[in-house]
Amino acid sequence: MSSSFTPRPLVIAPSILASDFAKLGEEVRAVDDSGADWIHLDVMDGHFVPNISYGPDVFKALRPPTRKIFDAHLMIAPCDPYLEAFAKAGCDHITVHAEAGPHLHRSLQAVRALGKKAGVSLNPGTPASAIEYVLDLIDLVLVMSVNPGFGGQAFIPAALGKVADLRAMTAGRPIDIEVDGGVGADNAGPLAAAGANAFVAGSSVFKGGTKQSYQTNIAAIRNAAMLARGEAV
Ligand code: DX5
Ligand code: ZN
Repeated sequence: MSSSFTPRPLVIAPSILASDFAKLGEEVRAVDDSGADWIHLDVMDGHFVPNISYGPDVFKALRPPTRKIFDAHLMIAPCDPYLEAFAKAGCDHITVHAEAGPHLHRSLQAVRALGKKAGVSLNPGTPASAIEYVLDLIDLVLVMSVNPGFGGQAFIPAALGKVADLRAMTAGRPIDIEVDGGVGADNAGPLAAAGANAFVAGSSVFKGGTKQSYQTNIAAIRNAAMLARGEAV
């Protein structure tokens, strides 16, 4: 990574989409105990994306088991009518998709007005330039490295170039570059070298199904990213 960039903190954010829904609270507690920094919450509406997941009432129920940051990824359109419900449910970050409607700027203003950190997510086909005129309103950019809607998909390598473009575009600003989809210990190094500092991981964290395996899986992603950042492992 270029020395002109001060690295943002390294973050591992397990996506509970890959967890055992029959014991969701226990799964959240298990990844909390296993080194997760944020808990990534994928909201799908069966309209913006071809799948349906969970919403604010579920997140409210998951607040007591953990004090970790709730990183909500809204794959819904429209999103504006639901922002307040996610804020009230205890979400700390609220990320909306640039493609979810015509008024991205307004949605980000609304998230900030609720006192939450605002994120923009970019689908694989959306260029980095989509955030150029909202830089003052965002705390994070979520680069999709799969087409959103499902866990367990293969990583799209073009995300690496987009991460690098975004890191250059956001240089000097307190904006996290988060990557989501097919992320694991195998590609966390190149992604970190390109400038990503937050790593969402579903299948690669929850594989194994035990707390012991979650610990190993999270550590493997973290170590790969740390090595690429030139940090001692
Ligand atoms: C996909 C979601 C992801 C998903 C990632 O639409 O946004 O957060 O859970 O799952 P993996 O890590 O399995 O690709
Ligand atoms: Zn996600």
